Amino acid sequence: MKISLVCSVCGASFSANEPLWRCECGGLLDVVHHPEFPIDRIMSRPQNMWRYREAIPLPLDSEIVSFDEGHTPLLDMRHNGVSFLTKLDFLFPTGSFKDRGASVLVSKAKSIGISGVIEDSSGNAGASLAAYCARACIRCKIFVPHSTSESKLEQISAFGAQLVRVHGSREDTAVQALKEAEAAYYASHSWNPFFIHGTKTVAYEICEQLKWNAPSAVVVPVGNGTLLLGVFIGFQEMCRAGLIKSIPRLVGVRSASFAPVANAWHGENIVAQFPESTTVAEGIAVERPVRSDQILNALKSTNGWLCLVSDDEIREAMRYLACNGILVEPTGAVSVAGFVKDTPRLMKERQVVVILTGSGLKDMAKVSRLLK
Ligand SMILES: Cc1ncc(COP(=O)(O)O)c(C=O)c1O
Ligand SMILES: [Zn+2]
Repeated sequence: MKISLVCSVCGASFSANEPLWRCECGGLLDVVHHPEFPIDRIMSRPQNMWRYREAIPLPLDSEIVSFDEGHTPLLDMRHNGVSFLTKLDFLFPTGSFKDRGASVLVSKAKSIGISGVIEDSSGNAGASLAAYCARACIRCKIFVPHSTSESKLEQISAFGAQLVRVHGSREDTAVQALKEAEAAYYASHSWNPFFIHGTKTVAYEICEQLKWNAPSAVVVPVGNGTLLLGVFIGFQEMCRAGLIKSIPRLVGVRSASFAPVANAWHGENIVAQFPESTTVAEGIAVERPVRSDQILNALKSTNGWLCLVSDDEIREAMRYLACNGILVEPTGAVSVAGFVKDTPRLMKERQVVVILTGSGLKDMAKVSRLLK
């Protein structure tokens, strides 16, 4: 399996065995490899995300850090008479889809002999990384914004990670982590491209669950875009391999309070009407995602779009889900809020998959408050 890291700015290429998370020119790195999908072998393996082993960019003899995660349910639902499918991608060991990315990223770190990592997070990626590092016996230091839910902080600490609370925004937290990243392996889910090669397995699973067919649209929450980009790469790879005919339309959902990505999408100052940079959906409270250009490209090239939702719409989506027996945290309900808002457009689709990303059990106090 030939795997390299290629800079998205200057095109420089590096061995995947180097502990790099960014190019010397400062550019984002992407993983280049040749995924394969030997269907018979895949189907003969246990139902977890590692059954797509030949499509995950780690040498086949690598030791994998895993809890047998993945193969989350795909359920039929209806809202106001319109059918859609929900992927319950919060049913993971730490309660969020981030475990997909952490499993691949920590496996990668272990395979190149890394003994300690740092990461910044709004909470869930930090919890995932802390859990997988604990399993791999790798030291872990997580920077979080001061506003992160107490229960998520407790989760991170419980796994033995060192926690650093930063007074400031999600961006301020990243800046502080970046300073330390000069001297450590930066296991950042937004910078480090191996994370996305874990989140992409959700696209493989959706296709397998649809008998190796792609849906016509997929709705995902977008903060730093690791899920959206993973979904995009996953469908692209299956399309290139001839497993599916086309890539679904991707619809990204963001909080209306976080302007820059939305302004770039609409080409105007569309969110000036929402001056508050706060949202109940802490997982997507990201002002300027480092992969913004890639996010916009994924939406454009699939003929998808960006949907903006308010906190009230997110709360309404949480209530609808809870009434249907599904308890998610606010960020986990963002995609459903987007589906509800854009139903007039989405109901024209042949089949829509809406991805739910974070368990309500992560922060029951907040969830109960919002459901009232
Ligand atoms: C529950 C949940 N959903 C969605 C997201 C957004 O993911 P991304 O930042 O990769 O776009 C996050 C990020 O923290 C999250 O915690
Ligand atoms: Zn470069």
